[in-house]
Amino acid sequence: MTDIAALQSEILADIQGAGDEPALEAVRLAALGKKGSVSALLATLGTLSPEDRKTAGPLFNGLKDAVAQAIGARKAQLADAALDARLAAETVDVSLPSAPLNSGTVHPISQVLEEITAIFADLGFAVAEGPDVEFDDYNFTKLNIPPDHPARQMQDTFYVAPQPGDQGAAHVLRTHTSPVQVRAMLAAGKPPIRVISPGRTYRVDSDATHSPMFHQVEALVVDEGIHLGHLKWTVEEFCKAFFEIDRIELRARPSFFPFTEPSLEWDMRCDRSVRGQIKFGTGNDWLELGGSGMVHRKVLENCGFDSTRYTGFAFGFGLDRMAMLKYGIPDIRSFFESDLRWLKHYGFAALDIPTLDGGLSR
Ligand code: PHE
Repeated sequence: MTDIAALQSEILADIQGAGDEPALEAVRLAALGKKGSVSALLATLGTLSPEDRKTAGPLFNGLKDAVAQAIGARKAQLADAALDARLAAETVDVSLPSAPLNSGTVHPISQVLEEITAIFADLGFAVAEGPDVEFDDYNFTKLNIPPDHPARQMQDTFYVAPQPGDQGAAHVLRTHTSPVQVRAMLAAGKPPIRVISPGRTYRVDSDATHSPMFHQVEALVVDEGIHLGHLKWTVEEFCKAFFEIDRIELRARPSFFPFTEPSLEWDMRCDRSVRGQIKFGTGNDWLELGGSGMVHRKVLENCGFDSTRYTGFAFGFGLDRMAMLKYGIPDIRSFFESDLRWLKHYGFAALDIPTLDGGLSR
């Protein structure tokens, strides 16, 4: 008869010797599998005499249980060892400094846009918007700019090639934010209107103080009894708030725009006698802010307003110019070159994001 004890110690040695799960599985099959040594032994029970079976049965089954138990224990051991090895291999050194976080900054134009919107919000103005690709009709015709007006000539305006779905309507890249006046009036249907509209504008032009894409902020107020005094007060309050000074001096020059009558251009007294510096409120120099005027009767009528009852004022100032002046930026084109060094220098910190090592990312 097979030496059960010898077989058991042989199998248990194999189990202990199995270095990983596949090896252990091979040992299991060799013992307990269909053709395994233990299974073969158990199969012989049927051939034994009842007498022998009585003693052999518990022995054989004891062997089977001992092997199964040893395999289970070894399996758990191997899994523990595998986990330990993984933990040892994948440790994280939490004392290492973290990789620097590169946070963005607010572009000066965005910053100025936010400042202006906040100032006008305090004065009760809402924000109105219009598209960059604008109807020729809103950019020009409804603003009383007749088809033969010089502002329509090719050197000023980017014309947009006809697109399917235009239904014959000509489009341009808006040359100013004034078409938003038309949109605001058509949308409101009736006064009172008090809106500003900051946004991108386009003209065929490029040098140190002109960029083919630039920004304007338009203001429009329409109601009963609106007069030039309201325009002057609004421009004054806005400039004081934007340039953060209490005492400013404004100068209004007569001007011409087809969509305002009378039309005025505003200058602000400044001192540029020291190179690279500008001071507001004193000095013998004047800084151009932009155009304005009382909304032309025809424009009100083109937008369905009763021009015998309502009047309004509007102005359109150059946003980039104001940003250049307030933050001392010499070349308008640098705003739009996406030079990261420039943006880091002139951009405004967006958020202070704490890094893991306790520093602040910039
Ligand atoms: N749209 C004019 C320009 O671009 C400015 C302006 C706006 C003038 C509103 C009068 C009223 O120059």
